[in-house]
Amino acid sequence: MTSPLRLGIAGLGTVGTGVVRIIQRHADLLTSRANRRIEISAVSARSRDKDRGVRLSDYGWEDDPVALARRDDVDLVLELIGGSEGPAKNLVEAAIDAGKDVVTANKAMLAVHGQALAEAAEAKGRVIRFEAAVAGGIPVVKALTEGLAGNEITRVMGVMNGTCNYILTRMEADRLGYNALFEEAGKLGYLEADPNLDVGGIDAGHKLALLASIAFGTRVNFASMEIEGIQRITLDDIRQAADMGYKIKLLGVAQMSGRGLEQRMSPCLVPKTSPLGQLEGGTNMVVIEGDSVGQIVLRGAGAGEGPTASAVMSDVIDIARGTRLSTFGQPASDLRAVSGATGSVPAPFYLRMTLLDKPGALARIAATLGDAGISIDRMRQYGHDDESAPVLIVTHKTTRAALDEAIAAMAGTGVLVSEPVTIRIEAV
Ligand code: HSE
Repeated sequence: MTSPLRLGIAGLGTVGTGVVRIIQRHADLLTSRANRRIEISAVSARSRDKDRGVRLSDYGWEDDPVALARRDDVDLVLELIGGSEGPAKNLVEAAIDAGKDVVTANKAMLAVHGQALAEAAEAKGRVIRFEAAVAGGIPVVKALTEGLAGNEITRVMGVMNGTCNYILTRMEADRLGYNALFEEAGKLGYLEADPNLDVGGIDAGHKLALLASIAFGTRVNFASMEIEGIQRITLDDIRQAADMGYKIKLLGVAQMSGRGLEQRMSPCLVPKTSPLGQLEGGTNMVVIEGDSVGQIVLRGAGAGEGPTASAVMSDVIDIARGTRLSTFGQPASDLRAVSGATGSVPAPFYLRMTLLDKPGALARIAATLGDAGISIDRMRQYGHDDESAPVLIVTHKTTRAALDEAIAAMAGTGVLVSEPVTIRIEAV
């Protein structure tokens, strides 16, 4: 049996302590699977005295994560601190500089600095692995990098923020408004320290950008992603979407077309009978389409101690076994720099608006759509008892640009009571 793989763990929050617990609980199992022992040499965190409910006295302690990375008795550095800049990035750079491999759960750092860090690691013959950064316990990085490596990937989709899916699911199930559920999610500890990362779609956007890089062999391009959060979704939208056979999900879609790399993280309507439509609560789902495999669906816990630590350990065991994969599935220098797509693939759209209830109002709205070349698929007017009427329109496939043109024209009709809400309907 080869010598033990010696870990330095930086960050002892939920994920870090979860990793320590797995290593303590499954020492023999891990040894059999990796054919060598996996040991913790030292740990680093902000507070040494905090009771984390796990035994740390056998390990060395470093206040400074960079010092942890430089220790002679550390072969592999686990970066579980988080944040795109500062201590996490300093640690990874120091680890690579010291000739250490890195396992990280840090989607924000890789979405912004992934290319530079991958290049730096490869220049030193080191690896950076990040299974835990995307969709928690779902082995989706592995699926794309290894299991589906023989496919040309045509599309990657995912619900990858459990907090948003929890809020949207509860809005529908319990008829509670967004604000009440946002508050509840905060009380339950579901929200990131900056809640906009969750509800603004940024956290899920980071994850999609990393998957797109592996799927399409492109440099991570988070800056070109179209991102919209769930803050403007109302109970009316959810009710009316359900009435038409849809669910609203914060859905990420990445695909490559002649127009470039299309990456969107935004609320979408999906058929309620589809796997994505049936995804309830804080669970994640990733759907991958490849030319040979067809469509595969991966579902599981996207956050939490056990699932995220499980993902970290899969990378640790790979490295212990001697499996050395490029960060994004191929050498960083081979990844293509592509620009963001100009315009998205055409799709049907849902439009909700309130109109003045007077003769010709609907006709004027229909005319703006016709003038922009948009065909109406379905239309419904809801019951009301005042002088304005809620109206729902589902279009045939159209482009965002044509829709924007129609909406601009609607503003001049004089019959709109409120600005129309538009949501893309994704074929899943
Ligand atoms: N805040 C994320 C979620 C988990 O709600 O899914 C960490 O990315």
